[in-house]
Amino acid sequence: MNPILISISPNTECDDVLMALKILFMPWKWRDDKYTKQLESLFVKVTGLTGYAFAVNSGRSSLYLILKALGIGNGDEVINQAFTCVAVPNSAIWNGAKPVYVDIDDTYNIDPEDLEKKITDKTKAVIVQHTFGIPAKFEEIKEIADRHGILVIEDCAHALGSIYKGKRVGSLGDISFFSFGRDKCISSVFGGMILTKDKKLAKKFGQMQNELPQPNLFWIKQQILHPIIMALVKPFYNFGLGGFTLGKLMLVLAQRLRLLSFPVYASEKYCGQPNIFPAKMPGALSLLAINQLKKLAKFVAHRKKISKIYNEKVSKKKFDLPPDNNGISFLRYPIRSNKAIEIKNKFKSKGILLGDWYNKAVVPVSDLSCTQYIKGKCPSAENYSNQIINLPTYIGLTEKDVMQIINMLNE
Ligand SMILES: Cc1ncc(COP(=O)(O)O)c(C=O)c1O
Repeated sequence: MNPILISISPNTECDDVLMALKILFMPWKWRDDKYTKQLESLFVKVTGLTGYAFAVNSGRSSLYLILKALGIGNGDEVINQAFTCVAVPNSAIWNGAKPVYVDIDDTYNIDPEDLEKKITDKTKAVIVQHTFGIPAKFEEIKEIADRHGILVIEDCAHALGSIYKGKRVGSLGDISFFSFGRDKCISSVFGGMILTKDKKLAKKFGQMQNELPQPNLFWIKQQILHPIIMALVKPFYNFGLGGFTLGKLMLVLAQRLRLLSFPVYASEKYCGQPNIFPAKMPGALSLLAINQLKKLAKFVAHRKKISKIYNEKVSKKKFDLPPDNNGISFLRYPIRSNKAIEIKNKFKSKGILLGDWYNKAVVPVSDLSCTQYIKGKCPSAENYSNQIINLPTYIGLTEKDVMQIINMLNE
């Protein structure tokens, strides 16, 4: 009844579905900012992160607004790593700036040595991604950035709950952002949070947030329906013959009927900016995020327990494993193999969906040239993208599921 699916609403539990059902029938709450204010104060309280928090309707809206608030635009360069989501370079592109790609090291994050090489006199900021929840080498990166007078922005889309050298990821620098996307650390289907310790910037974000439009009611309804429809789809995901299953049919139908929205809009794959980004975090999604935020400690403890089992039991002879560090809350547990594609397909044929973040230097894109990534410029990122397999750590995954995955991998 509970297939192993890394990307299908992985954080959603029964209480989240009930909450979504309740909200669905209370449309007067959908755009009530009161709940968004509650989310912002709860976020700081629950995470223990310091700073002023501003919720918006996605991580990409957060990053777009951060760059705008910093005055980054035409003629400026923004550094981000290769092995990333197109939402990251798009935020620079949408502001008229140029994304510049740095290669990664074996933490799947910025390689400080390559960072130093990519800085020019046009570089205004560096986006430090903590991929899969693994903290980047922040001290080294910050030292380089400070020496060149470059601003540092932490991308904590994967890393809510991770610890770096005793400090919470997200408060390492002056400014950071988080994602509450459908497959992130906590989920309200879409959602994001900007966090800053800088009072002046906070004032600016407050003004920007006030001026944002509310998403339209149709969009909000699509997001509220997401956990409900996924709860109906999941039990039937593998019910059928071969590739044709009832669950997949239900999913396609729901998308065709526009009951659901896609996580990345078609225009974004060509670096376009959909109207919906940036927008206010609607009250309805804030309520979903609050319900999830209250469970953050439980989610983090579970992710740590599962990744410990992977670390102990996945064959180190057959796979490259990530660093073993108790501070890491792995959103997904990355392993590498030269047979990655074959392995992911084998699992798929058994009804188990593993992840492929990131199976290219920038994903998902229909036109790589718009991202301004040049093939061959970040060889480690390209190499790892051919070998990557993401293992699930989400709350519904049982130890029996984990052992099934491990046994299949080691075979
Ligand atoms: C590393 C990274 N940064 C930023 C984002 C953007 O977050 P969101 O999907 O909430 O816009 C994503 C996700 O898609 C991501 O993977």
